[in-house]
Amino acid sequence: MELYRDPGVYRQGPGLYTLNLDRGNRLYGEDLVEEEGQEFRRWDPFRSKLSAYLLRGGRAWPFARVHRLLYLGASHGTTLSHLSDILPQARLFGVEKSPRTFGALLALARRRENLYPLLADAHLPERYRAEVGEVELLYQDVAQRDQVEVLLENVRACAKPRAEILLMLKTRSVTQTATPREVLRSAERALGEGGLELRESVDLAPFARGHFALVLGAPG
Ligand SMILES: C[S@@+](CC[C@H](N)C(=O)[O-])C[C@H]1O[C@@H](n2cnc3c(N)ncnc32)[C@H](O)[C@@H]1O
Repeated sequence: MELYRDPGVYRQGPGLYTLNLDRGNRLYGEDLVEEEGQEFRRWDPFRSKLSAYLLRGGRAWPFARVHRLLYLGASHGTTLSHLSDILPQARLFGVEKSPRTFGALLALARRRENLYPLLADAHLPERYRAEVGEVELLYQDVAQRDQVEVLLENVRACAKPRAEILLMLKTRSVTQTATPREVLRSAERALGEGGLELRESVDLAPFARGHFALVLGAPG
């Protein structure tokens, strides 16, 4: 197992792995690999867009100085569980609006001390801002028509100056009448007008078709 990205991402052959914080347990059927007394979880790029981002050549890995992270659209916690492996000392707040999915997230948080699940709508950051505080990294994967507006609202409410931002843009949720590239360009424009600095856009096909990972910086 070789360190592939610092902090916390390892590689063996074609696969990416994280060091399992919840030893002996898997979350979504992923392989567990034992090496030199440590247990690694395989990070499936078809199940997690952040793993897909790395395997598609994404350059940024802005997690080195992250103590607080806000994750919008946490779902069952697939990606969040790998972030929990990568940032064992950080506080990771996961916002999810579906009560059914939230149950799974709650169960995950009982086994991982760095996870703080919040049942809330990402349209309403004022409901969780006091608890979350100001974060160094904001991650969003909500697959909604107004993904860009939701992100900008949350940056204003919860991001530290110059915070790092990762947006997983699902183009088909925005519109089906424009091409994915057109949706990407218009999202990039709107994010720039909202004061964010665009650093990188990565097409996540074939792992997640019609999705792009955007790396952005919040204003200073
Ligand atoms: C594509 S899934 C997220 C997958 C997850 N990010 C992962 O990689 O493990 C999108 C999730 O966003 C949630 N969601 C959609 N709109 C939301 C909103 N306004 N506030 C909070 N969560 C929302 C959905 O319920 C769904 O669970």
